[in-house]
Amino acid sequence: MSELAAVLDEAWTLLEAGVEPGRGLVTLCTVDAQGAPQGRTVVLREVSRDRGAVAVYTDARSHKLAEIGAEPRVALVLWVPEAKVQLRLTGRAQVEPGLAELWRDIPEDRREPYSHEPSPGTPIPAADAWEEQPAREKFARLTVTLSAIEHVSLADTGHSRAVFRAEQWRGTWLSP
Ligand SMILES: Cc1cc2nc3c(=O)[nH]c(=O)nc-3n(C[C@H](O)[C@H](O)[C@H](O)COP(=O)(O)O)c2cc1C
Repeated sequence: MSELAAVLDEAWTLLEAGVEPGRGLVTLCTVDAQGAPQGRTVVLREVSRDRGAVAVYTDARSHKLAEIGAEPRVALVLWVPEAKVQLRLTGRAQVEPGLAELWRDIPEDRREPYSHEPSPGTPIPAADAWEEQPAREKFARLTVTLSAIEHVSLADTGHSRAVFRAEQWRGTWLSP
């Protein structure tokens, strides 16, 4: 395996490890209707090396989905402290609301993120003026088909930066 291929392999391995419980918090960046950047923390839920895709779960009514409806290009950023690696992912997002099979697999006590009334981001008169009403229609999977992965290593042995584009995932070293 070439050095660049090994770097790409590490990127996918770190992403795959990220879907384990308690790991894989990523910043998902979108662009809003005014053209301004919007970032928020989400949990990495699925990674497919074969399809070159990652997925997160969200509330189907959330602002991020409206933003993606208008501009499907997104970025995801992940810092893995144990590996001293930053991964910057870019790609095109696709929304699948109300997936029955996935919804069945989510334990009832984990459905709170897909339950809020009024819908996420609605102004409310007090901090507790909302309630939980879990429903499958409020659940959505957001799959990002990646166009590029950038790997930045802050290893003690020397820093490195490489970018891999989805066309055959060939990599290029970049000056860090
Ligand atoms: C640690 C942490 C994990 C989160 N995980 C998710 C998640 O997996 N999916 C999600 O939609 N929101 C998640 N959130 C909430 C988002 O950061 C965000 O507040 C929410 O999705 C509303 O974003 P939006 O209005 O831009 O759509 C998480 C927040 C934190 C602090």
